[in-house]
Parts: sequence; C-alpha cells; structure tokens
Amino acid sequence: MYLLAFESSCDETAAAVIEAEGNRLRILSDIVASSADIHRLFGGVVPEIASRAHSEVISGITDEALKKAGVALEKIDAVAVTSHPGLIGALLVGVNFAKSLALSRGIPLIPVNHILGHIAAAFFGAEPPKPPFLAFVVSGGHTALYRMIDYHTPVLIGTTRDDAMGESFDKVGRLVGLPYPAGAGFDALATEGFLQACGKTAGAGVSGEDAPVLEAFAAFPKTAAARSMPLPSPALAGDTLDFSFSGPKTAAVNLLHRYTQNGTEPDRALFAAAYTYTAVHAAAEKIAMALSRYPGEELVLSGGVAANSHLRGQLRALCRRKGVRIHIPPRSLCGDNGAMIAAAGYYAYLAGERAGSDLNASAADGL
Ligand code: KG4
Ligand code: ZN
Repeated sequence: MYLLAFESSCDETAAAVIEAEGNRLRILSDIVASSADIHRLFGGVVPEIASRAHSEVISGITDEALKKAGVALEKIDAVAVTSHPGLIGALLVGVNFAKSLALSRGIPLIPVNHILGHIAAAFFGAEPPKPPFLAFVVSGGHTALYRMIDYHTPVLIGTTRDDAMGESFDKVGRLVGLPYPAGAGFDALATEGFLQACGKTAGAGVSGEDAPVLEAFAAFPKTAAARSMPLPSPALAGDTLDFSFSGPKTAAVNLLHRYTQNGTEPDRALFAAAYTYTAVHAAAEKIAMALSRYPGEELVLSGGVAANSHLRGQLRALCRRKGVRIHIPPRSLCGDNGAMIAAAGYYAYLAGERAGSDLNASAADGL
C-alpha cells in the first residue's frame, strides 16, 4: 500500500510517500522544509513563526512529495499525520491538512505519535529490528527508553525527569556561542576537544564514530582537561533507567560563570568534550543496564540527537561488546521527517487505528 504522511510538530514541515508490504517499507519521497533559519535569529523556536511557516509550505511540499514518488494522489491508500506531542499551533496545520485530504479522498486518516515516529525511522532497513526490542529516543524534547513489544506497542522503561538531552546540548552549546540548534556544532567541537585533551591529531572529517575519537573518548576521564571541568552525571543512581539533565546543565553554566568571574575563558572544545562525555557516558551506562535486564533484545537509537557522532559511536561500541544488533537510522532520518511518520502510521493502520473528522492535535506527552 501507499501512505502519504505529514509532520509539523516543531520547526520542520515534512511530507513523504512510502510503499509498505508486510514488514518491507520503502521510502519513495521524503521532503523536509525547515524554518530553523528564522528561529535562529531568536535563539530558539518561536511557535507562531513555526505555524505560519508550516501553512506557507505544506501544500507545495505535498505536491513535491507526490511528484518525486511518482505516485498520484488517487493512488494513495491512507494518510498519516503527527497529532501529538508538539507545539499545538504547529501540529494543527498538519492535522487539518491531512484531515481534509483524507476526507476528500475517502481514505483512512491515521494519527501518529511523534515519538513512535522517531522509533519507526529505524524500520526501513533490509533487516528491521526484531520485536521485542529496546528503543532509545533522544530528541530536542525527549530522552526516553522504551521496550517495544511489537512495532506499535511501546512500554516506557526509563526517561528524563526534567530536560531532554538535545535541549541540554542546545542550551549548553548556546553558552559557548553556537547558533540554534547547537547540537551538530557542539558535536564537532567535542570531537576537537577529545582529540586535543589526549594530544592526538586526526584528519579532517573525523567524527565520534571513528577510531581515533573513540579512543580519545575512552581516555578522556583521565586527562587534565576532564579533571579541570568536573560535571555530575545525568544518570540517576540505583537501578532506575531514568536521567536528570538539569544537574549537569546547571553545573556547566556555573563552570562557565567561574571562568568569566576570573576574567578568563574556557577552551570551548575541551568544554564541549567534557559535557558530551558526561551526557553520552551516562546514556551508554543506562543502555548497558537495560541490555542486561532484557538479554538478547536488539537496540534502536533514534531522534534528532541520534545524529550525534559520539552517541552513535559509543552505543555501537557497546552493542558490539555485548553482541547485540543496533539499528541507527541514517542521519537524514534522525531529525524530524515525514517518512518516519508514514512508517509508524503503517503499523498503526495495521493495528486498526483510524481517526475521524474530529481528530484534534494535542501538545501533551504520552503514548
Ligand atoms: O528530533 P528532532 O529533530 O526534534 C525534536 O523532536 O525535538 O531533534 C532536534 C534536536 C535538537 O536539539 C538538535 O540540537 C539535536 O536534535 N541534534 C543534535 C545533533 N544534530 C541534531 N544533537 C547532538 N548532536 C548532533 N549531531
Ligand atoms: Zn522529533
């Protein structure tokens, strides 16, 4: 069957067409229009601007998605749309657009949870994850670990009690002068920092997934740089799989303040490495705990922060040591996109989920 899907929960407007048969999913088109350039001027997402940008482009990118897929609207079998969670005004643009398309064509309308969408971004590979599997979703707004009973049924087993990992990267990155969203810039800065702290050099284009940086990451806690920038771990103690990012974030802010008060400046790369080490190491520890608790289960890493090279590199290394298969979507499918909503929509469709003309958007979390 052919699915057309929409995503408009934050600052990306996306439309995609996929073809699905059994557990084989194929992306025919995946068009994303971002309004991040405008939000950058304000240092974060401005909800009204996001809503207006969605309204302006959604019709155009739908035409583009259908054209690129080579599938006429008459051939589409179902329409899926992110209905929650997200910015309410932004979500409403996608929901209303999807609703009118589905109603006018008389085809099923399927509401999709954005987080389930992120997890479904890992379902496009030749060998999709085998349920039950674990899914670590790290985005601007979420840091949560789920156990997926099947492709459509999540059970929350760990979460952040306050900030999300992406949000903390964005805030801490902003403190060292990186523009919104700071995640990718902070990732590159940390790579420099890990190498520098260990006195290593590496060619251009290396990232946290490459051997020299993986080695520098492992050696980092013993370096003078790490000792001079101590930060608390976001991993909550005990046998919980929960996190709290507010502690390390506040400690990072205080650390920078101390430099300012002394009239000095921290080395930005070493600081990025110190914060990244704390966040990624904590995530890897909790994932290791979860893998031991659910032996033999595969792991999905997804969400915008799954583009982080250090997180990708460390979790890949962990899974290699544990002999567990890991599924990480390509970077293009980590950030918000329509293909992931189509994939989650397909499994919601198979589970019999349908919405009527009364479908509403909701800002609230919860699956
Ligand atoms: O999933 P997403 O596109 O939107 C939400 O649903 O929140 O995630 C956006 C987040 C932002 O916080 C952005 O800074 C972060 O993903 N991000 C990264 C990287 N690329 C994007 N964070 C760390 N490292 C990256 N390479
Ligand atoms: Zn997202």
